[in-house]
Amino acid sequence: MTSALGERATLVSVGGGPGFEVIQLARLRPGSSRWRVILLDAQPGMIAQGHWRRSRRVPPPERLLGDAVQLPFPNGSVDAVLSLGVLCCLTDDGADEAAAEAWRVVRPGGFVVLSVPRWRGAADDERHTRHGFARVAGTRPGRSVFRKHK
Ligand SMILES: C[S@@+](CC[C@H](N)C(=O)[O-])C[C@H]1O[C@@H](n2cnc3c(N)ncnc32)[C@H](O)[C@@H]1O
Repeated sequence: MTSALGERATLVSVGGGPGFEVIQLARLRPGSSRWRVILLDAQPGMIAQGHWRRSRRVPPPERLLGDAVQLPFPNGSVDAVLSLGVLCCLTDDGADEAAAEAWRVVRPGGFVVLSVPRWRGAADDERHTRHGFARVAGTRPGRSVFRKHK
C-alpha cells in the first residue's frame, strides 16, 4: 500500500489520538516525510498530547478537531484513511456513517487501513465492503486494508 500511495500522499488518521501510528508509518516508509498527514480526533485532549514530537523521521502532522462521521474534506481528496481503534468507540450506526464518510473522502484507488478488536472485525470489514471498498489485505477480520476501485 505504501508504494501505491506515492511520494506526496495525503493521509488522514481518523480518531488518531495522540499520533502513535504516525510514528509507525515513519518506520514503515522513511520517505513518508513528504506525505501530508492529518491527525483528526473528537477530543482536544487526545491530539494535544503530541507523541509525534518523539519522532524525528516525520514532520509533525496537522491536527484537526473533528468527527469521524462528518469529515471536513472534499469528496475524493484523501489518499488513505487510517481508522485504528476508532470504530469500536462508535455505535453501529456511527460506524456505518464513518465507513460511508471514508468512502466519500478517499479518492478512487485510495485506501482505508482498519484495525478493530477481533470480536467485531467481521462486522466492521463488512461495513466497508458494503460501502464499495474491496478488501485487499489483512491478517484477520478487522485488521484489514481496503481499496476503493479506480
Ligand atoms: C482507542 S483510541 C485510538 C487512537 C489511535 N488511533 C491509536 O491507534 O493509537 C480511539 C480514539 O478515537 C477518538 N474518537 C472516538 N470517537 C470519535 C469520533 N466520532 N470522531 C473522531 N474521533 C473519535 C477518541 O478520542 C480516541 O482518541
